[in-house]
Amino acid sequence: MHTPSGIKTPYYLYNLDVLHRTLQAALAAAGNYGYHIHYALKANHNPVITDIISNYGFGADCVSGNEVTEALHRGFPAQKVVFAGVGKSDEEIQHALENDILCFNCESVEELQIISQIAEECQKVAAVALRVNPHVQAQTHKYITTGLEENKFGIQLSRLQEALELCRQSQWIDFKGLHFHIGSQIMSMQPFEELCRKVNHIWQKFRIDEYNPVMLNLGGGLGVDYSNPDVLPDFENFFSHIAKNLAIPSHIKVHFELGRSLVAQCGSLITKVLYTKEGNQKDFVIADAGMTELMRPALYQAVHKIENITSEGAPALYDVVGPICESSDVFAKNIALPLTRRGDLLAVKSCGAYAESMMLRYNMRGRAHSYFVGDGQISGNSCREEAEATVQ
Ligand code: LLP
Repeated sequence: MHTPSGIKTPYYLYNLDVLHRTLQAALAAAGNYGYHIHYALKANHNPVITDIISNYGFGADCVSGNEVTEALHRGFPAQKVVFAGVGKSDEEIQHALENDILCFNCESVEELQIISQIAEECQKVAAVALRVNPHVQAQTHKYITTGLEENKFGIQLSRLQEALELCRQSQWIDFKGLHFHIGSQIMSMQPFEELCRKVNHIWQKFRIDEYNPVMLNLGGGLGVDYSNPDVLPDFENFFSHIAKNLAIPSHIKVHFELGRSLVAQCGSLITKVLYTKEGNQKDFVIADAGMTELMRPALYQAVHKIENITSEGAPALYDVVGPICESSDVFAKNIALPLTRRGDLLAVKSCGAYAESMMLRYNMRGRAHSYFVGDGQISGNSCREEAEATVQ
């Protein structure tokens, strides 16, 4: 693996060739079905990454006012920006209205009333898709399941009629269609098939066509293979399953909000071994990156492949842990690595999504920076500072 040398660890290393390949594959597959993709900025808002994605013509999926600002700043056209979230503040709603985004993904009747009220105050009609909670089991970790009755997301089916009526009655709401998002890191196509069947049923039962919809947004969720970081997601397979199972009028534009699947495999977290500590039953590799740079193992018991990129010694078993004062600060237990010593570099793979964007300052940690290979260059930036300079 090609890594810049003499750079302070830990750092995020992005391979832009992989990013380009992933984006091209996603666009080509979506194009086969006339589908539109909005990139979910929450997966990674590094400006080098988002600049590339906006240049390809993707839309943006945002979950905060700052993400809306950042998406516009990175060149995503306002008419390709959607804005979801169960707790949009009045200021965020006003800000999105002023910027003429494609639509709000509205998550409750209560929010719809506030959007209508703020739209009237601003004398601007708000474009709205209703996010419906379809009660579909996503078969993923419970913390990234969003489409069950117990989850806070979306409008429950029992209140959808009320929400639709409100859209019809309010002159300040322009109803665009329905939105769904059932969860993240979904590896089987079965939940997506189930989602399509639910959408078909809801479309009929609630006579959605009578409200003049123009779009259906099926959210994100397509998973990546964390045990094979070189394998890119099969976008063609994903979209073909959707196309086979969706039965709504053909003039309705179908949108997706992909995050992880577009960026996960292009990034690694590079960390230096500080100590190998001999324990009673096992040896620990203590790395200089921890849950502050990659929270996923601690939060979702996620497993990322780890490679020692500087040693070719005989394999031994280790627990790979970080320096943070939490027992949950463990990247992997009992994994085989080539004989590992102080000073070795480890690559934690598939860190392009939900690693840098979830970076924490806990324990007063410094910020890990990011570097880029591929695209004909090796370059670094302190992207965090740059990104944060653009938010309010
Ligand atoms: N749309 C909505 C409304 C979402 O809530 C999400 C992700 C996405 C789209 C993008 O989903 P994706 O294509 O990335 O699965 N931090 C967690 C993942 C949280 C996902 C939150 N919502 C993790 O590291 O696994």
